[in-house]
Formats: sequence, structure tokens, C-alpha cells
Amino acid sequence: MNSEIYEKFKSRLTELGYCEYISSFNPLANPMQLWAEYEYAAPENLRPVIDLLFLGRTVPLDGIDEQLRECIPALSDEGIFSIDEGDVRTTGLTLQPMFGLWLFYQNPQVNPMMYYGEDSAALIMRQRPQAGKTCLDICSGPGIQALYAAAHGEKVTSMEINPFAAEIAKFNARFNNLSIDVRTGSLYNEVKGMRFDRITANPPLLPFAENIAYPFVGHGGSDGIKITREIIHGLPDALSENGFAQIIGTGIRTGAQPSFAQEFENFGRENGLDIMCTTVFTSDISRQSPVFNGLVLTAQMATGLENEYIADEYEKDLLRQGATHFIAFYLFIRRGKGGFYNMDMSKDNRTSFWYL
Ligand SMILES: C[S@@+](CC[C@H](N)C(=O)[O-])C[C@H]1O[C@@H](n2cnc3c(N)ncnc32)[C@H](O)[C@@H]1O
Repeated sequence: MNSEIYEKFKSRLTELGYCEYISSFNPLANPMQLWAEYEYAAPENLRPVIDLLFLGRTVPLDGIDEQLRECIPALSDEGIFSIDEGDVRTTGLTLQPMFGLWLFYQNPQVNPMMYYGEDSAALIMRQRPQAGKTCLDICSGPGIQALYAAAHGEKVTSMEINPFAAEIAKFNARFNNLSIDVRTGSLYNEVKGMRFDRITANPPLLPFAENIAYPFVGHGGSDGIKITREIIHGLPDALSENGFAQIIGTGIRTGAQPSFAQEFENFGRENGLDIMCTTVFTSDISRQSPVFNGLVLTAQMATGLENEYIADEYEKDLLRQGATHFIAFYLFIRRGKGGFYNMDMSKDNRTSFWYL
């Protein structure tokens, strides 16, 4: 039975101190630039394990702890490892223990097909799972929010458009000994007619010009809320009577309010949804700003286009929309009289996106 092998693999990783090493990096900031830096401090038998599972390196099979090595064939059959001439590597995956769960996801890179990042953890911090409730996790990726809800006894369905990410989410559920109904498709397509007590979403959320390619997992359209808008439009049908949705996002401000304030106010009023937006970060989005330049740099690394050209196009797109600021926010949405409230806790140019 593979579940016994998974338990053995996880227990042995814990015994070796794998979780001790990885849990030393702030899970809410996911500082991957530091992951390799402290490997010198790990015991000798842990270092190849960190190399293999955390840093995505190829290592000699016989350098791996014997009890872990015994589990590798079964995990290779599941597509987690590949073995070649006495060397082993993951199939491009990182294994990160967090929040009592184990998550396989794609090794961090500029243009991942499957994502986990600090926003993933930030959404978890807000989740209010309750045993027996039904949960839909949209844009689920490798499934951390879905796993978290299932671990707390919710009956979870997840939706993910990318079949590769959905397969990893299924494996993550098995590896954590949890049951999740992982469906592949766009937004609500495969859950039509179903209602949920909890809906979570970490959609592609960054505001970026539509005419420039940007990593798919992050591109939220010109205003950052292209997918979020569609998720909200589906809520009147998908939320149970006392249900609520939690969506993490970033976007633009046009003056004092988020660009979507009036639109969401109208939609909420017309559809009996109370939409609370908690804004926790705001920053100037002029050409000189770190946020602007960070987004341009990502697009440049993903496309190979010239920095100057991308910056020009992006600036034009922001000016067209009247954008003055970049914002990071959380939406909490439930049935009610209908309306929109912006709980603006942001102050200009703090360094952390997701927390005060
Ligand atoms: C920012 S990642 C979030 C992944 C995961 N929920 C997390 O927080 O770590 C966004 C995910 O949404 C998926 N996605 C994009 N458009 C989608 C759509 N229309 N329907 C379902 N999933 C979608 C992407 O493939 C990607 O896995």
C-alpha cells in the first residue's frame, strides 16, 4: 500500500530534521533566495535530502538515507522522482512541509506552471475551516488551501485549469492522506449547480498590460482582477445561504479607491452580496517605483523582450486606466443587503505586501 510508504517517508524526513531545516524559513515570506545558504549547518545525512527535495538538485541515490531510499521506487511510480544511472532527482518538484501539511510544488522559477508563494500562505492565514462544511478552492494549483480545508474536516472540491497542477494536487491529497475532489477546468465549469459554504481563491492576480506576456499563474489582466471578477460573478449561484468567499488579490487604485470599488458596489447591491475589501498594502506605481520595476523585470525574464519596451507598454496601460497606486487586498464576501466596503489599512510604501 502506497499510503504506508508515504507515512514512512514523511516520518523519516521528520526524524532526520528535514522539517526543522525548512520550518526555519519564514513560511509567510518564502525567502527562496536563502534556502541553500544555511545548508552547511545541517547534519551530513540531511544535506543530500535537502538537495534533493528542497533545492531540486540531482544526487547520488546511494547518498540518500537508507529508509528514504526504500520509498523512492514507489514515489517514482507516482511520477515524483526519476532515477538515472544511480542518480535521483525529483521531476522538477520541491517538497515543503507547512501548516502541518506536506506540499509538492514546482521548483520556484520565473514562469512556473504550478505556483506556491507567500500569497498562498497569506490566504491560509485567513481561512476559517469548519468540520462538515463544504469548500470550493478555485485556482487551486498544487492545492495548499484545499489541503488546509480538508485537514480541518471540510468536504473539499478544487478547480484548476492546468491539468499538470491538478495531477500534483491529487498526489498531494494522497500524500497527506486527505480526500479532495480535484476537478480540472475553468473556475466553476465543473461544479455547476453545486453550492459551497466556503469558497477560497488565489487567482492570477497581478495587474499587468494584456499585450505583454506575463507568467500565466500571475497575470490578472490590466487591472489585476480579470479572474477575480469572474469568480465574484459566479458567487450568487455558488455560495450557500450562510457561506462566504475569501479571495486574495492585488490591483490598482485610481485616486482614493480601488479601481473596482464602484463596480463591486453595484454588483454587490444588485446581487445581495456584502463585499468587504481589506486593503493592506499600497504603493506608488510610477515608473520609478519598486513595484513597477519588479513587475517589468518578471515580464522581461519571462519573455526576453527589452526592459525599456515592456516598461513603455506597461506605463501606457496604467496611464490609460488612470492608475496612481498598486494595492494588495483580501476580499471577504457573503450574502447580505449588498454593497462594498473598503477597510483601508494600508499606508504608502511599506515593504510587505500581505501584512502590516
Ligand atoms: C497564483 S496561483 C495559486 C495556486 C494556489 N491556489 C496557491 O495559492 O498556492 C493561480 C492558479 O490559478 C490557475 N488558474 C488560472 N486561470 C484559471 C481558471 N480560469 N480556472 C481555474 N484555475 C485557473 C493557475 O493555473 C494557477 O495554478
